[in-house]
Amino acid sequence: MSQLFQPPAAFAKTAHIKSLAEYEKLHKFSVENPEAFWSEQAEKCFWMKKWNKVVEYSCPDAKWFVGGKTNLCAHAVDAQVKAGFGDKVALVWEGEPMPEGKPEIKKLTYSQLLVEVSKLGNVLKAKGVKKGDVVTIYMPMTLDIVVAMLACARIGAVHSVIFGGFSASAIRDRIEDCKSKLVITTDGGWRRGKVVPLKTNVDEGIAEGAAKDLVKTVLVYERIGGDCATYAAGRDEKVAPLLAAASAECAPEEMDSEDLAFILYTSGSTGKPKGIMHSVGGYMVHTTMTAKLTFDLKPEDPSEMYWCTADVGWITGHSYVVYGMLPNRVPCLIYEGAPDAPAQDRFWDIIARHKVSKFYTAPTAIRTFMKWGEELVTKHDLSSLKVLGTVGEPINPEAWLWYHRVIGGNNCPIVDTWWQTETGGHMLTPLPGATPTDPGSCTRPMLGIDMAVVDEAGKEVPQGEAGILVVRKPWPSMLRGVYGNRERFIETYWTKVPGLYTAGDGAKIDENGNFWILGRIDDIILVAGHNVGTAEVESSLVAHPRCAEAAVVGFPHDIKGNGIAAFCILRGAYPQGAEAEALKKELVAHVSKQLGPTCRPDKLFITEALPKTRSGKIMRRLLRDVAVGKDITQDTSTLDDVAALHKLAAAAKQG
Ligand code: WT7
Repeated sequence: MSQLFQPPAAFAKTAHIKSLAEYEKLHKFSVENPEAFWSEQAEKCFWMKKWNKVVEYSCPDAKWFVGGKTNLCAHAVDAQVKAGFGDKVALVWEGEPMPEGKPEIKKLTYSQLLVEVSKLGNVLKAKGVKKGDVVTIYMPMTLDIVVAMLACARIGAVHSVIFGGFSASAIRDRIEDCKSKLVITTDGGWRRGKVVPLKTNVDEGIAEGAAKDLVKTVLVYERIGGDCATYAAGRDEKVAPLLAAASAECAPEEMDSEDLAFILYTSGSTGKPKGIMHSVGGYMVHTTMTAKLTFDLKPEDPSEMYWCTADVGWITGHSYVVYGMLPNRVPCLIYEGAPDAPAQDRFWDIIARHKVSKFYTAPTAIRTFMKWGEELVTKHDLSSLKVLGTVGEPINPEAWLWYHRVIGGNNCPIVDTWWQTETGGHMLTPLPGATPTDPGSCTRPMLGIDMAVVDEAGKEVPQGEAGILVVRKPWPSMLRGVYGNRERFIETYWTKVPGLYTAGDGAKIDENGNFWILGRIDDIILVAGHNVGTAEVESSLVAHPRCAEAAVVGFPHDIKGNGIAAFCILRGAYPQGAEAEALKKELVAHVSKQLGPTCRPDKLFITEALPKTRSGKIMRRLLRDVAVGKDITQDTSTLDDVAALHKLAAAAKQG
């Protein structure tokens, strides 16, 4: 059932795109005339040499802005300085520790950033890094990680950023896959009051295997100091003295539009991580345009302050902290640590102190904040907020409504952005001044993006029916492949529906033309001949006042083919015995009443934790084993909290 929220009138009046009608007209033009549309967008970016062809496509291989030459760092930084904005703040950083109640805050203007990236560019060159070489970056959320990425881009090196929460073996696998010879890291970073020993993890990662011989140089930033890190002679070096001696002049390398810009590993739900490849020109154009439109960025408005809570080590950070944000000249905030350090209201404290206007976070975080209670939010002044964003998972309507009311004061449009590491930038999202939003729906395709919900033959399914989410036309920031694995590229994205890009998600389109993501196709449960989306059942559970978070999986069922098993984290106290049984029954009845008997969970477990990846996604494949009492023998290397999983499995076995 739809419950539409119109963009606030005052907001729409000054927005880049002001009405649904305007969006629809532009979108229609953009998909009917992709070359005209995308070349107009590309004109707004920095080029060293103009392209001679907008797109060349032979499925699944696309080339964008063919013949064009540019540089991602020059577009993000130099071009802003040249346009006269050198003194404008580009990045604001806040550290986690709060000595005497005051955090450490640092800022970089575009001119300062230009000096920093040029110096590091020269240091990397002096270490022998050449155009096309892969540099591994494993750092905490500091200004230095942004500088490191941009410095690579500047000299034409390909970066592979590894999320700072990953372990030594994840570092080893990725270094070996992309054959990286140089690693940039930091001695450590702060997380929840503790030091994360990043350099020690690197040491361990490259102590054995092929990585041991591959890595010749490790450059180390110091965030912690003291004896936090040890240095291997001949291999490891502190970066500060090298930077102090480096020249601040480093001309940006002329990159072909189709040169490889970076590799980013995504684990997906199973198997070995895939190195997703993005190229320079298309990624630049797509991320610059989408950052501006989705967040309605206004560089001339002095009250703009944008904060994305995602780690720079994920695609969200690559696109909407670094490459798509900086060219839009709105100050971008980076926070080093955890949301509950020192207390559970840290985020709201940050928003109030920095007067954040645009805020971008994940559903898993929102559900956690709901559980922590709204008193923690309302004691802070969040009136600076104008747009709220979410990404990473379907957002349950209940969580959406809470975000809208408690964080947004009923006055901020919510942009629920659907996209992937593979898509590089936003694909489905409301535009905050134009699109009526419906809690739980990521609404409409971005300008220039042609998406549909189809069956296996590629035919559109009737309105309201579940199908396969596809992109029908190439788009500039689409992945150019899986590093070193052509077969996996074709097999994962291009074989489910011939000729169309399949994201791996199930979806449906409602009577308003809005898209609803039903979860990963592999997670969709066929119950007595009906497709049941995990997201729908989970959202129904979360709508119950006692359920804070839920995960739903299928399990083999004699009669129905598959049954539904639900795992629920509670809000408030955990009842025992008969009371717990009564609550379980109540939750099951609640789903049955809301969604009908087909969606009624056959098993329901109450739990204190769910298995999640480090990026906050629920790992349903593990829950499928738990649901049937099977021992966990699958790969759990990307899991955040393995102990919680085993505790849950033991509890489930007892019934
Ligand atoms: C998968 C991609 C894009 C950056 C973060 C995740 C799910 C992502 C949404 C959304 C419903 C979403 C999809 C997608 N997803 N955003 N707004 N609504 N589902 O990147 O790790 O590459 O994951 O995340 O299942 O395929 P990723």
